[in-house]
Amino acid sequence: MKVTFFSTKPYDREFFDRFNPSFGFELEYYETHLGPHIVNAVEHATAICAFVNDKLNAEVIDVLARKGIKYIALRCAGFNNVDLEAARQAGLRVCRVPAYSPEAVAEHALAMILTLNRKTHKAYNRVREQNFSLKGLMGFNLHGKIIGIIGTGNIGRAFARLMRGFGCTLIAYDVVESDELKRFGVQYLPLREVFAQSDILSLHCPLLESTRHLINAETLRQMKKGVMIINTSRGGLIDSQAVLEGLRFKQIGYLGIDVYEQEDKLFFRDLSHTIIDDDTIQLLMSFPNVLVTGHQAFFTSEAMEEIALTTLKNLARLAQGLEPENPAAVVV
Ligand code: NAI
Repeated sequence: MKVTFFSTKPYDREFFDRFNPSFGFELEYYETHLGPHIVNAVEHATAICAFVNDKLNAEVIDVLARKGIKYIALRCAGFNNVDLEAARQAGLRVCRVPAYSPEAVAEHALAMILTLNRKTHKAYNRVREQNFSLKGLMGFNLHGKIIGIIGTGNIGRAFARLMRGFGCTLIAYDVVESDELKRFGVQYLPLREVFAQSDILSLHCPLLESTRHLINAETLRQMKKGVMIINTSRGGLIDSQAVLEGLRFKQIGYLGIDVYEQEDKLFFRDLSHTIIDDDTIQLLMSFPNVLVTGHQAFFTSEAMEEIALTTLKNLARLAQGLEPENPAAVVV
């Protein structure tokens, strides 16, 4: 079976090429994003393998179906970039990697909190210039702070376990509450209460129509002044313009984002010699209390192994007429 990959980087090839011999697929790699501009290049393949910023809208899915594609294997957890109804109507199966090392993402969220709080990124540069002054580097103890977790699935739960180790008080909101978290003392509250009580708010829910711009001008007003907001989930959860205002007026004290609403034009490539035509990200990056990383929260060797293995297993099972081992891997 031939599988055509999109948005492939050398590190993706490394992991898929390492595990593919025991599956025996023919792998074809494209570096470019999948979208209407390239979909016609798909030839003689049965499956395509896509990543977070590939656009699988109705137009693309229609062409894929006409070209004989049967399976769309997402090598990520989120599937907000796929028109699921179009896939269903075209009879395409869509699978994903539901939980590859949730710890990888949770640990990155924690890294962002510690960096923003203790300003290690600034200290690193300062000390290299033999400036040992502490001015402007004061942080706060995490111990005793109230952490609000929005979305307590695999990553939210891993994040809660980490923050418990710091002696934080944990509150959460999810449409489905986790008994595991309740047992170790996480208190579920209405969303508005989580916004109102949190010193640090970490987003771990998927991007859906109901969660788009969850962080907006109105919800920002419900939060404590100086709140820290961490988003390692999806950029669309945050209304960037409202957040810029929140930073200007110091309603937001710290912002850590690994994802950004318009990231498909920026992330996963070297633009260091380019003038970036996006005033919003330029402005965000100019704030001293904002930390931006380029969708790297998942990026550990353990997670990459899990992504490659699960994606290949999902495809092998579908090709044999079986369902993926983990029911949560089935999207359509
Ligand atoms: P999951 O499916 O295990 O958990 C998501 C949780 O969000 C579930 O408990 C669900 O009930 C909850 N949820 C659904 N609608 C909600 C709502 N309206 N309000 C509050 N909670 C709601 O997903 P997982 O693995 O924990 O991943 C979470 C998100 O993290 C993914 O959707 C993905 O977008 C993002 N992600 C980001 C990565 C990165 O590298 N930055 C890597 C992997 C995932």
